[in-house]
Amino acid sequence: MKIIIINGPNLNLLGKRENDIYGDQSFKEYFESLQNKFKTIELSEFQSNIEGEIIDKIQEVGYSYDGIILNAAAYTHTSVGISDAVKAVSTPVVEVHISNTFSREDFRHKSYVAPNAKGVIVGFGLQSYELALMSFF
Ligand code: DQA
Repeated sequence: MKIIIINGPNLNLLGKRENDIYGDQSFKEYFESLQNKFKTIELSEFQSNIEGEIIDKIQEVGYSYDGIILNAAAYTHTSVGISDAVKAVSTPVVEVHISNTFSREDFRHKSYVAPNAKGVIVGFGLQSYELALMSFF
């Protein structure tokens, strides 16, 4: 089974960024532990701060992979382009967020991705990625 985690803007700063909200673990460290835990899955990851690169990656993997775990970060709340890409591909996309976006500012309550996602996992810290991964079994 081939699954990719796609992370959007500023998620390269996990571990350094707003630790009270996002925790103090780097994504690299978390991702390695996830790979070790789910050895039978071909798990990869991609991060970009650039909207078009995220769209390119969704298109690239979206007809051959078994699942996409997408944390579009701030673009979740703004990007019709990413939403359209999620709708266009045949690979199911699970939207994740580390923080509980519904307990934060109003602008974070809107997701352009969610209507086209298979499901949404919000607010479980980095464990949100693992819960999303388990949804593909
Ligand atoms: C986030 C929530 C977004 O609102 C925010 O812009 C992020 C991270 C999360 O994982 O909690 O960058 O997607």
